[in-house]
Amino acid sequence: MSFTVAIDGPAAAGKGTISRAVADHFGFAHLDTGLLYRAVGKRVLDGEAALDAARGLVAEDLEAEGLRSPEVAQAASRVAVDADVREALVDFQRAFAMRSGGAVLDGRDIGTVICPDAAVKLFVTASPEVRAERRYREQVGNGHAASYAEVLADVRARDERDESRAAAPLKPAPDAVTLDTSHLSIDEAVAAALAVVTKARGA
Ligand code: DC
Repeated sequence: MSFTVAIDGPAAAGKGTISRAVADHFGFAHLDTGLLYRAVGKRVLDGEAALDAARGLVAEDLEAEGLRSPEVAQAASRVAVDADVREALVDFQRAFAMRSGGAVLDGRDIGTVICPDAAVKLFVTASPEVRAERRYREQVGNGHAASYAEVLADVRARDERDESRAAAPLKPAPDAVTLDTSHLSIDEAVAAALAVVTKARGA
């Protein structure tokens, strides 16, 4: 039987860490849907048309080098505005969600558009300053030259684009549980998410 956990929220709120922890804990498969948009964004940076890239996307593209770079993140956020690109990526995501054994999908529109009937919906968020601080540390750790001010500007620009686009804007589903991680440690945030999923499993 399928059991889908939808985890949405802005960049660097802790979605990825929480999603992996939930998937590990319950033995569910995990799809970081941002990788689909990043893979399309990367192909666009390489000169391909966005819709061709989205339609031609294959699973191996999700393992391409460099998908985590800030340039690819911005390109992903730009292609994600295109309703046709989004439509081309729906089937892949829904098929993943329906796997037997349970699935966690994290992104921006999982609870609202991709899996409106998900068993559990979490909206993971944190203040822009806290998210920028986390992203900044991560990028410095990965050897990227970055300044906190640049990272904060980048976080704000992506929030603005993700929230204001007409096609599947970033927003909590009406039935999502909001988890603000601004003042939580990773362990506390994971424990809070596990508690929500455990409750839904038992129900
Ligand atoms: O989660 P991320 O930073 O890897 O996402 C990269 C971009 O992809 C993000 O700015 C918006 C877009 N995205 C989206 O529109 N819908 C999703 N479900 C996931 C990501």
